[in-house]
Amino acid sequence: MSSRLLPRFTARMYAVAALFSCVAGAARAQGGASTTGTATDSLTPASAGVFTLEQAMRGRDIYATNCVSCHTPADHTGGGFWAGLVGKPLSSFFKFVRENMPEDNPGAISDDDYASVVAYILQLNGLPPGSGALVPDASRLSKIRITQPDPTRKER
Ligand code: HEC
Repeated sequence: MSSRLLPRFTARMYAVAALFSCVAGAARAQGGASTTGTATDSLTPASAGVFTLEQAMRGRDIYATNCVSCHTPADHTGGGFWAGLVGKPLSSFFKFVRENMPEDNPGAISDDDYASVVAYILQLNGLPPGSGALVPDASRLSKIRITQPDPTRKER
């Protein structure tokens, strides 16, 4: 990233941090209302197979066309990136990407294409595909919790 982009970069990262901490606060508040904490536990973990392999492959092509001018897949993989999202509802990540990316033309691709890109990013982070596609619907996405890959999962 060139230093020319730095002021905007910083401003946007604050916005992202604010968005994510707001969501985390809401999740905490919800958890606090329940003595058992099952409000959080009832969410589907992103490691449960929440997208299809075909969708992630399509997402990779969409990412290659719309995102690699500014990002590499390494930007959206692993510790520094994924760890910051773990525990958040997938809807907040989907919303961020859909409303802000590509940075030079937000909303440039269809909601289905955004869902495919998000599926690809899930796969990049080691989450397994399943039998149902990720649907670009805010209320359904809000029921999926971002997780690390299941360490007990057997590689196929
Ligand atoms: C024209 C350049 C550009 C394009 C194209 C672009 N981005 Fe970004 N993206 C940025 C910049 C710059 C940031 C850092 C935050 C900011 O200042 O907007 C960013 C931040 C992000 C973030 C937050 C985490 C991070 O990497 O900092 C995600 C996730 C993301 N982009 C995904 C995408 C996806 C998915 C696409 C393709 C659909 C895309 N971006 C296309 C410039 C771009």
